[in-house]
Amino acid sequence: MITRRAIVLAAGKGTRMKTDLPKCAFPILKKPMIEYIVENIEKSIIDETVMVIGHKREVFEEMLNGRVDFVYQEDQLGTGHATMMASDKLAGKSGSTIILLGDMPLINNKVINKIMNAHENSNNDLTVVTTHFDNPKGYGRIIRNQYDRITAIIEDLDCTKEQKQVKEVNTGIYVVNNQLLFDILPKIEKSRRKGEYYLTDIVALLQEDYHVGTFVMRDAFRVMGVNDLYAISVAEQCMRDEINKQHMLNGVSIINPDTVTIGHNVIIESGVTIQPNTTITGESKIMEGATIGPNSEIHNSIIYRDVAVKHSIVYDSKVQSRSTIGPFAHLRNNAVIGPDNRIGNFVEVKKSTTGAFTKASHLAYIGDTTTGSNVNFGCGSVTVNFDGQKKHQTTIGNDVFIGCNTNLIAPITIGDQVFIAAGSTVTKNVPKGALAIARNQQINKEDYTKHLIRPKTNSK
Ligand code: UD1
Ligand code: MG
Repeated sequence: MITRRAIVLAAGKGTRMKTDLPKCAFPILKKPMIEYIVENIEKSIIDETVMVIGHKREVFEEMLNGRVDFVYQEDQLGTGHATMMASDKLAGKSGSTIILLGDMPLINNKVINKIMNAHENSNNDLTVVTTHFDNPKGYGRIIRNQYDRITAIIEDLDCTKEQKQVKEVNTGIYVVNNQLLFDILPKIEKSRRKGEYYLTDIVALLQEDYHVGTFVMRDAFRVMGVNDLYAISVAEQCMRDEINKQHMLNGVSIINPDTVTIGHNVIIESGVTIQPNTTITGESKIMEGATIGPNSEIHNSIIYRDVAVKHSIVYDSKVQSRSTIGPFAHLRNNAVIGPDNRIGNFVEVKKSTTGAFTKASHLAYIGDTTTGSNVNFGCGSVTVNFDGQKKHQTTIGNDVFIGCNTNLIAPITIGDQVFIAAGSTVTKNVPKGALAIARNQQINKEDYTKHLIRPKTNSK
C-alpha cells in the first residue's frame, strides 16, 4: 500500500482580501474556508496531512489542533517556497502527495479521491489538475506543445497577450511522486517579476525527463480559488445552491431559495417549510412539520415538530413541539421553550426554561427564569434578573397569571396558581394560590379637573 499525503498551503496573508483575518480562515456560511478543506481531506483516501501556515498562524493552530501536522513559513515567498517548508517532515519518503491550496473551499472528498486515483492509474510522475474558465483572469495558464502535452504554467502577470487568451488554467492542485517533489523544489528559481518561488515551475522543470500529465476537471466551480471578497460571495452562492438543492430533493420546501442560507451541518427533516430571507446555521436541527421564516435566523438550535418561527432570531436554544415564535421574538443563550408555547411580538427569552402551554404574547423579557406549565406573561412583564452586578434567578410554578407591566425582582419564587395584578413590582416570594398586588392604591379626587382644564375656544 502506498502512503497518500496532502500538503495544504495556507501561510499567505491574502492581501487581495483587504481584511485582517488571514484569507484561508475567512468564513463561508459562517465556517472558516480551511475547515471545509480539512474536513474533506479527512473523508478522503489521504493518510496524512501537512499544513503550511505563517501569517497569523495561531488562528489555524487553535482551529485545527490535532487534525493536521503544521509546518511554518516565516516569510511568504511564494507557493514553491511554502511547499519546501514541508521538506523536514516529508523529504525522502515514498508515496504520492497531493498539493492543495487553502483557498479552494468548494473542493470535496470525492474530487480528491478521483484525482488521486487518476494519478495512480496513470504513469505520471506529476499530474497537474487543470480546468477551463471563460474568464481565466488571475489564474496561471496551461501551456501545451503541439502534441498537446503540458510544458509549463505561466502566471497571469507573466503571460504574453497570446497566453492570456488560453482558457485552460492551473487549479493549483498537483499530485506528485513525493520523493521527486522534494528533489525538484530546491531547483525553483525566484520569479523576476514578483520575486517569489512559484510552485508552478515544477512543470517546466520536470516535463523533459519525467511524465507530466494533466487531469482536467469538468466542474470548474469546485476548484475556484478565492482571492478577494467578491470571490467569497461567489463561493458562498455555489455552496448555498448546492446545499439548498439537496434539502429540496430530501423533501424540504424552500420558498425563494436564493434568499435562504443553510449551513453545512444543519439537519432538516422532510416536511419542513423554509420561507424567504431565512438563515439556519451551526449545529441546528429542524424537525418535520416546522415552518421557519420569513425573515428569521436560527443558529445552533433545535426546532421540534410543527413549530412555527416567524420574523425571529433563535440562537443556542430549543423550541419544543407546536410552539409558535414571533413575529419579532428573540431567543438566546439556552432558552428552552416548552411545547405548545406562544412567544410573540417583541419578546426576548434568555437562559430560561418554560413549561408547556406558556404564553408571552407581547413585549416581555424573560431571563434566568424557570416556569412551570400554563404560565401567562402579560404584555410588558419583565423578570428583573440583573441588579447591576449579578444575575439572579426567577422561579415560577404552574398555572400562573402575570398581569401586564409586572416586574418580578429576582431572586424570587412565584408559587403555583398565583395571580399577579397588573402593574405590580413584586419583590417578595408569592405563595401558592395567592393574589399578589404590589402597586399604589388609586386615588380619585372628585370634581378636580374643572380647575385645570380650560374650555377650548376657537381663537383666531
Ligand atoms: C495560485 C497559482 C496559480 C493558480 C491559482 C489557483 C502559483 C504561483 N500560482 O495563484 O497558478 O491558477 O493559485 O487558484 O502557485 N501561500 C502560502 N505561502 C506563500 C504564498 C501562498 O502558503 O508564500 C498559500 C496561500 O495561503 C494560498 C495558496 O498558497 O492558500 C495560493 O496562494 P495565492 O496567493 O492565492 O495564489 P494565486 O495567486 O491564487
Ligand atoms: Mg489563490
